[in-house]
Order: sequence, then structure tokens, then C-alpha cells
Amino acid sequence: MKAVVFHGIGDVRLDDVPEPKLKDPTDVIVRLTASAICGTDLHMIRGTLPGMKPGTILGHEGVGVVESLGKEVRNLEIGDRVVIPSTLACGNCVYCRAGHHSQCDRANPNGPLAGTAFFGGPQDSGPFDGLQAQFARIPFGNVGLAKLPEEISDDQAILCSDIFPTGYFGAELTGLHPGATLAVFGCGPVGQFVIASAKLLGAGRIFAVDCVRERLEMARDQGAEVIDFNREDPVEVLRALTEGIGVDRVVDAVGVDAVQPAGGPAAKKAKQQKKAFAAEVDEVAPERHPKGDQWVPGDAPSQVLQWGVEALAKAGTLAIIGVYPLSATHFPIGAAMNKNLSLRMGNCNHRKYLGRILDLVRTGAVDPTRVLTQREPLTAALDAYRAFDTRQPGWIKVELTPSQLS
Ligand SMILES: NC(=O)c1ccc[n+]([C@@H]2O[C@H](COP(=O)([O-])OP(=O)(O)OC[C@H]3O[C@@H](n4cnc5c(N)ncnc54)[C@H](O)[C@@H]3O)[C@@H](O)[C@H]2O)c1
Ligand SMILES: [Zn+2]
Ligand SMILES: [Zn+2]
Repeated sequence: MKAVVFHGIGDVRLDDVPEPKLKDPTDVIVRLTASAICGTDLHMIRGTLPGMKPGTILGHEGVGVVESLGKEVRNLEIGDRVVIPSTLACGNCVYCRAGHHSQCDRANPNGPLAGTAFFGGPQDSGPFDGLQAQFARIPFGNVGLAKLPEEISDDQAILCSDIFPTGYFGAELTGLHPGATLAVFGCGPVGQFVIASAKLLGAGRIFAVDCVRERLEMARDQGAEVIDFNREDPVEVLRALTEGIGVDRVVDAVGVDAVQPAGGPAAKKAKQQKKAFAAEVDEVAPERHPKGDQWVPGDAPSQVLQWGVEALAKAGTLAIIGVYPLSATHFPIGAAMNKNLSLRMGNCNHRKYLGRILDLVRTGAVDPTRVLTQREPLTAALDAYRAFDTRQPGWIKVELTPSQLS
């Protein structure tokens, strides 16, 4: 079968690989009809989420049809249409039963302290072969997979595999109450779902910060008040727009590949930190292989954490859903402590939210396809990766269709 395979930092290929087989009794083999590319995949190829094992199939978003079932899977039938949550969870351990599926004690073969188990990730996440392929083995399929009602299309369902639940998780982590003000840093696909979710949770005002025009426009179309950090200093603007108070809640939907402002008043401040930011890049991404403007790590890993802490109102809450590797150690702890801030963070507990998210889509409360800008066959995956990595105009969320080979 065809699959997108990680060979090294800056080196992904479309390969012919063997089809997966059932191994454990709760496994399910799914024939994928939709997959997608996530910002997390970019961190791995840029080298800012290190530890990938060459040969791992990439991708942690998937929708498909059940092809075969392990003997202990009692809730699915061959032929069922399903959505695959990005993270794996056993459903039995104390963490799963408390809804902390991404901290499952049993799903990660590296042991209970190894961290979140997810498809297509680094060695310490499993590794599990990913979902940018024609077929995939889904361990704990009886717990993870959610059956799709006919009314939900593949285009809608693929956005429920990871990014809609993650955006919802981020907004919910902030403890947002109706009327509160919230700023999201990053208007990529995940940031867009933070905005949609903050609306559902009753945010009074939503601010959205990025530097990519189309992404800010999409945020504004959703009703967010937008700030381009290459033109204005986001911290100053957020304070000015809130009568000097700052925002009640901030979500970091950028992660380790945050970039410095290229212009405007915020660029001056960032310049003073150039050396410190460069040292952070060396720390988080000791190996990197940029090719021209391709696979270039962000040049200011802690920029959004700094801005988030500064922009928050006293006693506000910062939720971090942007991904940082274990090697990232820079956070403005003094400023956060002195403002009585609360910090929440982590990998999404996809399984906890999936039922609610699918209902929101089925009833039409949210149309997730507003964020989907591209649909490409799996055979065009490498070009799609390159366009998404360099944030080409119009490229926001890319769906891949593994059943269509040209
Ligand atoms: N926690 C989870 O479970 C989970 C799940 C999915 C994705 N993620 C993470 O969410 C993050 C976003 O994913 P995505 O698919 O939207 O990625 P993306 O790369 O498409 O989007 C990131 C956005 O951040 C913007 N940005 C860069 N520097 C910035 C700065 N200094 N200030 C404000 N915006 C800045 C970029 O222009 C871009 O639009 C990634 O870190 C990804 O790994 C986390
Ligand atoms: Zn993801
Ligand atoms: Zn578990």
C-alpha cells in the first residue's frame, strides 16, 4: 500500500509499504478514506519535535471503513464508517476512566510515564504507524473508534479526528465562563477551532493573533477581533482594547515553531532577544535540515508563552495546546507567578470530546469544513506538505484522500 513515511528530518517520502495486520484482540484494521496533515507533523519534519524513528508512517488524523476486527471488538462490524482519534487510550486505566485519555497508563508501549501515545509520532509516543496511508492498524480500536452517522461526511469527520476536539479542549481548559474575554495566539487550523469552541462556550470577546492574512481573515469571518503581529504589538493592542486590563483567557495554539515578528513595533522587542531565542532553537532542535524556505523551525520558541503571560489580565488563565518537545524549558515563570496566573496544558483527550463534537457537527451547530481549504489525493501528499509547511496563500487545512491514488 502507499503511505507517507518519515525518513529523517527534512526527508519524508511516499513509499510502498506492507499492509498492516491484526496483532492484538482489540485491534481494528481500517481502510482509510480520509486523512490530513497537522501542524504537529510539521514540527517532526522541521526537527522541533525530535525522536522520530525512520520508517514510521506519518499522520494522526483518519476516517475510514472497518476492514477487519480483533476477536475482542464487540461494538463494531466490518463495513462500519469510523473516525479515528489521534491519541490511543485503553479505556480501563484510572486515567482513561477519569477522562485523561492522553495520559493513559497502558496505551504507550514505553510504559506509563512515557507520555501520550499517538499515531505517527516519535519513538516515545509508541511509536505507532500513522494514518497517512491506505490502511492502518488501530490498537484499542474498541475504545478509540467512533462510528459515524450517515449525515456526517468524510470532509466533516476528518476535522473531528484531532483539530476540532483539540480546539474545544483548549477553550475548555481555560475555564472560560460566559462573557469572559479570550485571545488565541495562532490562527492555523487548531486556532480556528479554538475560536469556534470559545464561541460555543459563550466567550464575550475573542481576539485572534497571527501574521498570515488568510488565517486572520478566516478568524475574522468567525467573529474574532484580529491582530497582525507584524504590524502591531499584540500585547499593547490587547491591553488597549480591554481598557488596560488584559484578556481573561489566552490559548497558545502555536507551539514550539513560533516565529518572531518580522516588522512593526513588536519586532524591536524581539530583536533584543535574538540571541536568547537562537539558543532556545538550538536546545529544542539540535538537528535541523532546512532546504531554502522549507522545513525551517520557528525562530522564537517561547515568544507566544511570553506574549500570552503579558497579555493576560491579573489572575487570568493560560492554556497551552501548541506542542513543545521535552527539551523546551523556557517559560516566563516569574511574570506568571507575580500575576497570580493559572496554567493549564497538554495533549487533547480526544476520546472524551468526540461524542459531543460529532453531535455538534451532525446537528449543524458547527460546520467544521469552513476550515478545510484543500483536498488532495495521497499521491500528492508531498506537495501538500510543502505548501502547508510554507503557509502558501490559501493553504490552511489539507485533507488527503488515500482511496484516490491520482
Ligand atoms: N495539544 C494537542 O493535542 C494538539 C493537537 C493538534 C495540534 N496541536 C498543536 O497545535 C499547534 C497548531 O497546529 P496547527 O495545525 O494549527 O499548525 P499551523 O502550523 O498550521 O499553525 C500555527 C500558526 O501559528 C502562527 N504563528 C507562528 N508564530 C506565531 C506567533 N509568534 N504568534 C502568533 N501566531 C504565530 C503561524 O503563522 C500559523 O498560522 C501545533 O503546535 C500543533 O502541534 C496540539
Ligand atoms: Zn494533530
Ligand atoms: Zn488507559
